[in-house]
Amino acid sequence: MEANSIAIDGPSGAGKSTLAKMLARHLGIIYVDTGALYRTVGLRALERGADAKDAAQVTALLEEISIEMRHDAYGGQRVILNGEDVTDKIRSPTASVYASDVSAHPAVRSFLLDMQRSMAKKYDVVMDGRDIGTVIMPDAGVKLFLTASPEVRAQRRFAELCERGVETTYESVLRDINYRDDNDRARASAPLRKPEGAIEVDTSEIGLEASFEQLRDIISERLKVKNDRT
Ligand code: DC
Repeated sequence: MEANSIAIDGPSGAGKSTLAKMLARHLGIIYVDTGALYRTVGLRALERGADAKDAAQVTALLEEISIEMRHDAYGGQRVILNGEDVTDKIRSPTASVYASDVSAHPAVRSFLLDMQRSMAKKYDVVMDGRDIGTVIMPDAGVKLFLTASPEVRAQRRFAELCERGVETTYESVLRDINYRDDNDRARASAPLRKPEGAIEVDTSEIGLEASFEQLRDIISERLKVKNDRT
């Protein structure tokens, strides 16, 4: 299925999940948010009082974790942790930082690998994350790398959190974004980087609709060229 699937990578707050959802709806395929899986492991670490940076503590937690993803036809995804729907809980700023910390451990990455690969094998998907084009779907039909300046990403995330009623400040959101950028890029296991063959789109100066149109056109062009060749 990978040949018709879309891999979207990039740093936090570049607009990946919103745009991926819009693209999945447009293409009539499933959207898979892989960050939600790391967030779920991060949430477990947080709730159990574990040190998210400690590989042994986090690895031990994996034995008591069962994660299920549920997808609807409209680009929605729910995440179930040991029978509890944690879709909303995993969005807190603290869970974001825990997600980034736990994602550096190879045991966590391999624990979540099968779920992601089996989705990519079974269905045409739009999947977003940090290692989708490099590790999970290296043969994706189209690979995109979305970026934006840290300030713009922090501004967008701040607005989103305010809208959800989360109490925070722009400065603290920017600090978290910079922390996660460094963490996600510097880790040894599947670090964030632009995948080979990926098209980079910087969304700093363009709004959501224009970004969507640009990506939609890149995808249809790329898939057409690929299908014409085969
Ligand atoms: O996309 P997100 O912000 O919800 O992801 C949360 C964290 O999970 C992110 O800081 C790094 C990690 N992550 C990852 O390591 N690999 C992925 N494919 C997706 C997310």
